[in-house]
Amino acid sequence: MTHFLDINKTDPAALRSIIDSAINMKQARKDAPRGYLDTDTPLAGHVVALIFEKPSTRTRISFDVGVRQMGGQTMVLSGADMQLGHGETIADTGRVISRYVDLIMIRTFEEATLLEMAEYATVPVINGLTNRTHPCQIMADIMTFEEHRGPIKGKKVVWSGDGNNVFASFAHAAAQFGFDLTFTGPDTLDPESIFLDEARAKGANVSIERDPHLAVEGADLVVTDTWVSMHDPQSARERRHNQLRGYQVNAELMSMAKPNALFMHCLPAHRDDEATSEVMDGPNSVIFDEAENRLHVQKAIMRHCLGV
Ligand code: CP
Ligand code: NVA
Repeated sequence: MTHFLDINKTDPAALRSIIDSAINMKQARKDAPRGYLDTDTPLAGHVVALIFEKPSTRTRISFDVGVRQMGGQTMVLSGADMQLGHGETIADTGRVISRYVDLIMIRTFEEATLLEMAEYATVPVINGLTNRTHPCQIMADIMTFEEHRGPIKGKKVVWSGDGNNVFASFAHAAAQFGFDLTFTGPDTLDPESIFLDEARAKGANVSIERDPHLAVEGADLVVTDTWVSMHDPQSARERRHNQLRGYQVNAELMSMAKPNALFMHCLPAHRDDEATSEVMDGPNSVIFDEAENRLHVQKAIMRHCLGV
């Protein structure tokens, strides 16, 4: 069974082939007439369940459209509407859904839910975000970086802000793709140390620098994300904003990175909180390419999982 649960659980050769396949599929559609079907339809006859226990714009639409472009069908399900939200176990749900569909994508809260689904499902499971990681997003980010700047290996990526689920997948990717990663943020919002320790154990150069200005020196890519994630209590909003204000990505901070440093944000963004509109809409921002590439890279991830 080929699941796609996290970037550290898929081997580097397979990750590289997913990125290459995504770039090829994107290219193949480039000059095609507008319309949803790819010329190659490897998912014809397949049904994909897309389960959401949290809101989503990009993940929901890009998976749904991606399956359709490849000739498959989707069912978009909300956790609350399923028996999952009314006490049926994840294990039973996974076993049942596997009798109907060919692939499951799930966005959920606890990582344990994703892992239990993967353990009991008899079809591949893809992680569409948990409280701990967001691997599909970082695959799209790597694709986007490489489209604009060539191989990410050896480049310097700086994350400014909350040490959250999106950062964690960057830490996984630093080891698998061989780029340097610096986290800058307040120590109260550090990433879980296991993400940094594991990346270091695999030979990645990952570091923490409290001063955002020093952190971005020599950066090829500056990344941030919302200061309050979906799983964070709203009551923590004001405290988080106070702690993170000094880590806003603004024109002054970007001016200390390399002149051609890219700016990324997985979106949705809170403009003028974690990043200014000037940076988000500026010449170095690739945020909408990132969003588009979710579509292409997830198509490649689904093909990898299904072996088609
Ligand atoms: N970046 C991302 O996953 O966006 P959605 O929450 O809209 O899916
Ligand atoms: N860190 C954010 C990412 C949203 C795509 C969250 O978990 O809410």
